Amino acid sequence: MANRSGNVIVSPSALAADFLHLDNEIEMINASEADWLHVDVMDGVFVPNISIGSPIIKSIGQAIKKPMDVHLMIVDPGRYIGMFRDLGAHLLNVHYEACTHLHRVVQQIRDAGMRPAVTLNPATPVSVLEEIITEVDMVLLMSVNPGFGGQKFIVNTLDKIARLRKLIDSRGAKTLIEIDGGINAETGAQCVAAGADVLVAGSYVFANKDPKEAIRTLKSL
Ligand code: DX5
Ligand code: ZN
Repeated sequence: MANRSGNVIVSPSALAADFLHLDNEIEMINASEADWLHVDVMDGVFVPNISIGSPIIKSIGQAIKKPMDVHLMIVDPGRYIGMFRDLGAHLLNVHYEACTHLHRVVQQIRDAGMRPAVTLNPATPVSVLEEIITEVDMVLLMSVNPGFGGQKFIVNTLDKIARLRKLIDSRGAKTLIEIDGGINAETGAQCVAAGADVLVAGSYVFANKDPKEAIRTLKSL
């Protein structure tokens, strides 16, 4: 069985970090109980916002001691697989909605030495993964519309997690379920109860008075 209560993987989202003092933020993550660091890449086309690119991700990659969980919100992400491997990504999340040939992209990510993950927007049903679920290491369910931090958790995600859990277990797969958007102690606990393995949290961690404590809270759900 996949990871359950008390063994949550926590992946704080650097999107909510203080980019003027990124060294302090990375040091905080290194010293915390966080398992991974979530890095959001937006191209202003797939999503209406633009975030960070290779120079900053390279610097993060050199300082972070935890695996980088890179979330590509860009069109045709298959074009950049080698680049993100060279920048130090461990997991590479591509959107189902952004890939014409998803199976090929997933294989290319694995061949490049990274763990492939597929991300679904809130309106995309879990059923689109039926033919590929055993090939991916993780599915990232967006619990907000991608593009911005600090949005409200979409409650329908909880039913979606349960449907995805059923699909994964029915195939005997080890695929992890990651949830991204509007995660705090309350929504995080609901996601874990519904069958999630990995929680991404941006504002809940970085806007917290005590970010390390916020990470510890999520770890204990
Ligand atoms: C949104 C990003 C998220 C974002 C989450 O498109 O994918 O990773 O940083 O931010 P919060 O946790 O503030 O909703
Ligand atoms: Zn993200």
